[in-house]
Amino acid sequence: MQPIQDIDILDEDVDRAKPLAREATGQQMVYLETYGCQMNVSDSEIVASVLEEHGYGLTRDEAEADVVLINTCAIRENAEQKVRTRLGMLRAQKRDAKRDLTLGVLGCMAERLREKLLEQEKLVDLVVGPDAYRDLPRLLHEANESGQAAVNVQLSKEETYADVSPVRYASNGLSAFVSIMRGCDNMCSFCVVPFTRGRERSRPVTTILSEVAQLVEDGYKEVTVLGQNVNSYHFAQDGTAVSFPELLHRISLVSPELRIRYSTSHPKDCSDELLHVHRERPNICNYIHLPVQHGNTEVLQRMRRTYTRKEYLALIERARRICPGISFSTDIIAGFCGETEAQHEDTLSLMKEVRYDHAYMFKYSERPNTYAARKYEDDVPEEVKQRRLEEIITLQRGHALESNKQEVGRTHVVLVEGPSKKSDEQFFGRTDTNKGVVFDREDYQAGDYVRVRIDDCTSSTLLGTALERTTLQEAAQTETIVA
Ligand code: 5AD
Ligand code: SF4
Repeated sequence: MQPIQDIDILDEDVDRAKPLAREATGQQMVYLETYGCQMNVSDSEIVASVLEEHGYGLTRDEAEADVVLINTCAIRENAEQKVRTRLGMLRAQKRDAKRDLTLGVLGCMAERLREKLLEQEKLVDLVVGPDAYRDLPRLLHEANESGQAAVNVQLSKEETYADVSPVRYASNGLSAFVSIMRGCDNMCSFCVVPFTRGRERSRPVTTILSEVAQLVEDGYKEVTVLGQNVNSYHFAQDGTAVSFPELLHRISLVSPELRIRYSTSHPKDCSDELLHVHRERPNICNYIHLPVQHGNTEVLQRMRRTYTRKEYLALIERARRICPGISFSTDIIAGFCGETEAQHEDTLSLMKEVRYDHAYMFKYSERPNTYAARKYEDDVPEEVKQRRLEEIITLQRGHALESNKQEVGRTHVVLVEGPSKKSDEQFFGRTDTNKGVVFDREDYQAGDYVRVRIDDCTSSTLLGTALERTTLQEAAQTETIVA
């Protein structure tokens, strides 16, 4: 999913827990570090909630922690490597400082590495899989009491943490993740997620809607609805079934001033009904993350993606017809098993046809137990993979720049998120189409919707001038009048 979708592990992707007051003497303090995708960030908020409920405190200061928990990612080899290095460092600190620290691994690496971590490398005291977070307090107690490692990596067919109120400890108070389904049944041949996160299951509609209503009450302005295959959401109760378009429609009715995004969608589940919901509901962003993975039909078949190049392109065309101005981002894998030069060229040519606004681009990395690991040879040499990835990145950078240049002179409604990275005098926000915009802050505030005229750009950012405060409803009306 997006950077939660699942993203590359960069330092800035590591969320560290904010400090909360140590309320009672002797309260155990937990330092929680999150790697990987948005889903992991959302899961850490569940973990924080479960732990707080059981009397633990959260700290941002690692040195103050009695318990350090690392929420891990297994999507690519380099993600795992990074976590292993970090665990090695923490283990050494624990040994050298001779302090009574409990060290735990959560999430996607738990199942596969439990044996290795516990028995061979003796790296950690606690291993907890993504469906066992309710069991954390018991496991922590067990590890502390027995001095033995405590493990629960059981995957569930039902767990959705529907009733757990996430503690949004790293949030800006404006944008929140709302998890609506877990797991994945797709079995794409390269992907380890179905093994690390288990079967697909959807959360009850009512609990989702009440979480969103609470967020609105708390002042949030944007939600990103999350799931590994979010648009295959399906919840049936008392003889009625709710699909993703219907759910999205209902979420959009909670407040007309709440922006709604979602991630990660699968092209097979991107129906016309869903596209019409985008079109009809002004607060559902005109943007879809629609991972293609590859531009060649034979490779797509071997990846088990269930669509052809032609079908994917037809979908993009349909989406642009139904939702004019819609923007797309994607995920692309370079150097999958057996990929020929001509097949790689097909990825480049597909990119030229679609012209994505943004892309997450990866070198294929073989993952244990996957269909590809069992059936295909990882036979594209490393330097060829690297060169193909670089070609893809260079092409994408050019497309992003061209697309941004076309924005110059246009006006966008931007949700102000906070100061820009470079200067406190400037604000950063996002357009409906998910493009980052920087502009002088004047007297605007984080959480405002502001009309911004775009004056200039780089390949990654739009630069603009704020014109006036607005609301989503007002902006939708103006658009209708102009149209
Ligand atoms: N190698 C490289 N990239 C991968 N992804 C998933 N599995 C692998 C793998 N084995 C990428 C896909 C997916 C994104 C989250 O990560 O592009 O959409
Ligand atoms: Fe992995 Fe495919 Fe499921 Fe996405 S849809 S999580 S790539 S198996």
